[in-house]
Amino acid sequence: MTDRKATLSVGDKSIELPVYSGTVGPDVIDVRGLVQEGVFTYDPGFVSTAACESAITYIDGANGVLLHRGYPIEQLADQSDYLEVCYLLLNGELPSPEENQRFHETIKNHTMLHDQMRNFFNGFRRDAHPMAIMCGVVGALSAFYHDQMDVTDDEQRQITAHRLIAKMPTIAAWCYKYSIGQPFMYPRNDLSYAENFLHMMFGVPCEEYKPNPVLAKAMDKIFILHADHEQNASTSTVRLAGSTGANPYACIASGIAALWGPAHGGANEAVLDMLAEIGDESNIDEFIAKAKDKNDPFRLMGFGHRVYKNFDPRAKVMAETAHEVLTELGLENDPLLKIAQRLEKIALEDEYFVKRQLYPNVDFYSGIILKAIGIPTSMFTVIFAMSRTIGWFSHWNEMVSGDYRIGRPRQLYTGSPKRDYPAK
Ligand code: CMC
Repeated sequence: MTDRKATLSVGDKSIELPVYSGTVGPDVIDVRGLVQEGVFTYDPGFVSTAACESAITYIDGANGVLLHRGYPIEQLADQSDYLEVCYLLLNGELPSPEENQRFHETIKNHTMLHDQMRNFFNGFRRDAHPMAIMCGVVGALSAFYHDQMDVTDDEQRQITAHRLIAKMPTIAAWCYKYSIGQPFMYPRNDLSYAENFLHMMFGVPCEEYKPNPVLAKAMDKIFILHADHEQNASTSTVRLAGSTGANPYACIASGIAALWGPAHGGANEAVLDMLAEIGDESNIDEFIAKAKDKNDPFRLMGFGHRVYKNFDPRAKVMAETAHEVLTELGLENDPLLKIAQRLEKIALEDEYFVKRQLYPNVDFYSGIILKAIGIPTSMFTVIFAMSRTIGWFSHWNEMVSGDYRIGRPRQLYTGSPKRDYPAK
C-alpha cells in the first residue's frame, strides 16, 4: 500500500511502522508489529484505532460527510429507497433496474417467519421490552437455518442476507403486536418494504390497512438513514463476534444487544423520555444547566456524537422529514415538538455546546417522527436495529469473505503483581 514509515521511540529503541493511506480520510499507522517489540498501544474506546480495513462506508465527522460505497447519504435518502441501499451496501454497486427488481422480489419472498417462531414470542412476558424479544428471536433464527450457515459459502451468505433483510420487519412488528395483545399480521406482497412494515405494525385482520404514502416515505428514509454507520459500537460488536466464526444470526443478535444502550441506539427512545421529563418549555433552562453540570450524570439526549463534530448529515434529512410528517398529521403545535425545537435552538447557541461541538444527532429527530407516526418509544431502537441489520451484515460479510483473524484486544494491566496465597 505504501513505503512510508512512522518512527516510534520507546526508551532507547526506535521502531519503524508502515503508514497506509485509504481512498480518502486520515492515514493509518500499522502497529501490528509492536507486539514483537514488547509494547502495546493503549486506546480505550478505540478513539484513535482503525480496527479493520473496509470499503463500505466513509464518514468525515469534521465536515459532516457520510458516504455509502461513495454515494452521499443525502442523495440516497432523496433518490433511492431502502432496499436499493441494502443492495448497494451488500454488493458494493447500485443495481441495474433488472437487478433492483429481482432483489425487491427476492426480499418479498422471504418475509414470512417459520410458523414455529410464533412460539418464541409466546414465551415472553407481554411487558417484555421489544429489544429483549428481538434479540432472542433473531438469535433463534440460527436454530431454523442451521444447515445453511456455512460462513465460507458465498451463496449461503447471500441467502442469509436476504432472509435477514426480509424477516426483520416481520420480527419487529410482531414484537409490538405481542406487547399489545393483538394478532400477528402477516406480510403483504403488494406493499413496499416500508408500507408492509406499517401494515404489520398497525393493521388488524378485520379490515384492510391503507398505508399513508407520506408516512411510508418517512419510514423508508428512517430505514435508509440508519442503514449503516461505519465501525460504530454495534457494528464492531458484530465484527468481533463474527471473527470467532460464530454464525451470522448470532452475530446480528450481538449487534442488537450492543445497540440497545442509551449512548448508542437507545438514544432516540431516551430523547422522547427526556422531552417528556422536561414537560414544559419553562423547564428547559433547568435541564440545560443539569447537562452542563459535571456533578450531574444527566446528558442532553440526542446531542453530540463520537465522530461528527459538525452537523450530522443524517440529522439534516431527518429534520426536514420531521417537518413533512408533522405537517401531514397536523401536529405542528405538538407540545413535545415545541420543547424539542426550543432545546435545539438553545443548544446550538449555548457556549458549552458550541465549544464541544455538540450538535443534534439523527436520534434527536427520528424519535419525534416515530412518535408522530404512532410508534411507541419502546419500539424506536427496534426500528433502528431492523434498519441497521443490513449494515451489520455487510460488515460481517466483508470480513468473513476476506482475510481475518479472531479479534483479541490486549490491556494495560493495573492489578496486583503475582503474590502467594496466604498459608493456612
Ligand atoms: N450533553 C451534555 N454534555 C455532553 C453531551 C451531551 N449529550 N455529549 C457530550 N458532552 C460533553 C461531555 O461531558 C464532554 O465534556 P468535557 O469535555 O467537559 O468533559 C464532552 O462533551 C465530550 O464528550 P465525550 O463523552 O468525551 O464524547 P464521546 O465521543 O465519548 O460521546 C456520545 C459521544 C454520543 C456518547 C455523547 O455525546 C452522548 O452521550 N450523547 C447523548 C447520547 C446520544 O444522543 N447518543 C446517540 C449518538 S448518535 C446515534 C448512534 O450513532 O448511535
